Amino acid sequence: MNDDYSAIKTRAIGLRRILNQANREYHTLDAPNLLDSEYDQLFRELINIEQEYPELRVEDSPTQRVGSRTLDSFPSVTHSSPMLSLNNAIEVSDIKQFDRRTKDLLEINEAEISYFAEPKFDGLAISLRYVDRVLVQAATRGDGNTGEQVTENIRTVRSIPLVLSEHAPTMVEVRGEVVMMKRDFEDLNRRQSESGEKIFANPRNAAAGSLRQLDSKITAGRKLSFFAYSLENVSESNGAIQSQLEISSLLKQYGFSTSSLSRVVKGLNGIQDFFNRVATLRSSLDYEIDGVVYKVDALENQRKLGFVARAPRYSMAYKFPPEEEITQLLDIEVQVGRTGAITPVARLAPVRVGGVVVTNATLHNQDEIARKQIKIGDYVVVRRAGDVIPEVVRPIPDRRENVKEFSMPKHCPVCQGDIAKESGESVFRCIAGMKCRAQRAQSIWHFCSRKAMNIDGIGEKLIDQLVELRFVESFADLYRLEPVRLSTLERMGEKSANNICEAISKSRETTLSRFIYSLGIRNVGEQTAKDLASHFETYEHLILATEEDLIKIPDIGPVVASSIRAYFNDPYHTSVVEGLIEMGVSWKPERFALANTVLAEKKFVLTGKLKSFSRDEAEKEIESRGGTVASVVSKNIDYVVLGEKPGSKLKKANDLGVKTIDELMFISLLEREDE
Ligand code: IVH
Repeated sequence: MNDDYSAIKTRAIGLRRILNQANREYHTLDAPNLLDSEYDQLFRELINIEQEYPELRVEDSPTQRVGSRTLDSFPSVTHSSPMLSLNNAIEVSDIKQFDRRTKDLLEINEAEISYFAEPKFDGLAISLRYVDRVLVQAATRGDGNTGEQVTENIRTVRSIPLVLSEHAPTMVEVRGEVVMMKRDFEDLNRRQSESGEKIFANPRNAAAGSLRQLDSKITAGRKLSFFAYSLENVSESNGAIQSQLEISSLLKQYGFSTSSLSRVVKGLNGIQDFFNRVATLRSSLDYEIDGVVYKVDALENQRKLGFVARAPRYSMAYKFPPEEEITQLLDIEVQVGRTGAITPVARLAPVRVGGVVVTNATLHNQDEIARKQIKIGDYVVVRRAGDVIPEVVRPIPDRRENVKEFSMPKHCPVCQGDIAKESGESVFRCIAGMKCRAQRAQSIWHFCSRKAMNIDGIGEKLIDQLVELRFVESFADLYRLEPVRLSTLERMGEKSANNICEAISKSRETTLSRFIYSLGIRNVGEQTAKDLASHFETYEHLILATEEDLIKIPDIGPVVASSIRAYFNDPYHTSVVEGLIEMGVSWKPERFALANTVLAEKKFVLTGKLKSFSRDEAEKEIESRGGTVASVVSKNIDYVVLGEKPGSKLKKANDLGVKTIDELMFISLLEREDE
């Protein structure tokens, strides 16, 4: 090796070290030692070296944050442990109940529980995997079990270390939230507006939109930030980690940003004080938060408390109250949805609610409008909570001047067909079904959407055109579209037409749960579709299920069961499915986390009062995992679960030698199942 080359190589290593350190000082320590201009100059020097000597470019070089490859789509990743959600507390009573239940379950009566408290960042959850301390994979939360791999884009986020500090274990997963700082959000929207591009509604949408760019160069141009809050699957550590507080300080040591507001608080008073303090600081923070998260600090206690369904029992999010503003209701228009529901929509004088400009809000249905006595022209209170659709809460009668009564149209505003209200329902529906263009378009839009058949590149406007021109009348017609025909549409180039047809074609292979969800059966959302797929395993079994069969599935009640039955009783619907199968749509059997294993085919008897479940809930928890619940203790029973004051069943279990478990053991059994 000649001397020059070796000097250049050493310089590249040195530059990387300086730049990585500068990133850490800037983002994690909040104490920059380099001027921006100095940083830029060194950065350019490194880029030049790497361009001339590509072999010196390494994966963890800070230059690799500028975005490189363009992807066709994001591959999916199965999380090594599920990314869970949090239970929400809205009222003080919810928090009291959480603290009480935690104390009961841990059998702590006197002492106050220590909770680790931190802001609830309003962004997107991301899981980062480090192997040999190098970032190898970044994934979105997705449905909690499977997410999208966004590694290329995550590399462009400067507050995410590409290499962890030497204190870190060799293998680890770090979870946290990608956010866009308020300032960066405003800059972005200013630039977008100048170049005539889409304005983002809030920093969270902007962060999500930026992270889901297939071209990582675009992501690199949008400034994103990351706050870490948890550590998973640690390969080794110096002594066992004992508390959430320790996790937080380890995360800082490894090179992550965490919230400077985080601290350990004691008991209910501590929870309330922290909440009030953070609420007053909220508007002065650089980033958006939508509440506060509390976690039992001791990890040993977290393990004891475990999980229920998809949320840990040791943690609770205390959300800020929804944000409200007053504005004028200019008009009420009606929209026709996928199931024909005619929804009145409020057109409002633009108003900023919780940092977002609101011009439309839902009024739900005519009964709501009558009940709330809302009239066109009224000044109204508008509420926006998190990312839910804004709603009109109530009018301000004192400010009423020229107002007009709203009345529901007598006919569908799109197809002019009849509208009707089913008994017991407050929603008017257009009864034309798929004969109504609006319903056709909305159903097709739902069919193509990300959580359904996930057809990329098809937007609402395109679907409207396809339906209007009768290119697509049923789902199966999508698979008959040809690029030549598509490219006759306005503003549709040959390349886009090809891409769309390819995306449609690719969607043919799907899963049963997505397929069920895509059909747009009334009252069947994503979770119900998953429950149905996991229960029936095949489409043929599903369509034969009676309402009684359906009601046996946890979380499916009579209304949902009857919608499902009604759907498959209609020959039009079964022919739609047949049409899709003819066009080559197929699905693979799925493996669900909750099927089989520990509880499958185990027989339980419950006795005494359980602290954290009602009898029904406990039965559903067991049954959803494939176990059964009996009422009498016999030799065939696998476990008798003992609540408070167990009674004679305990004696009988002991006499027969049947295994008894207490509530905590029961919870940990459920939890093992969920892992
Ligand atoms: S802890 C079991 N801490 O809130 C999940 N989550 O509503 C443990 N979130 O999916 C999460 N800030 O994306 C935790 N300081 C924080 C958080 C936080 C925001 C998100 C997270 C989670 C969602 C649940």
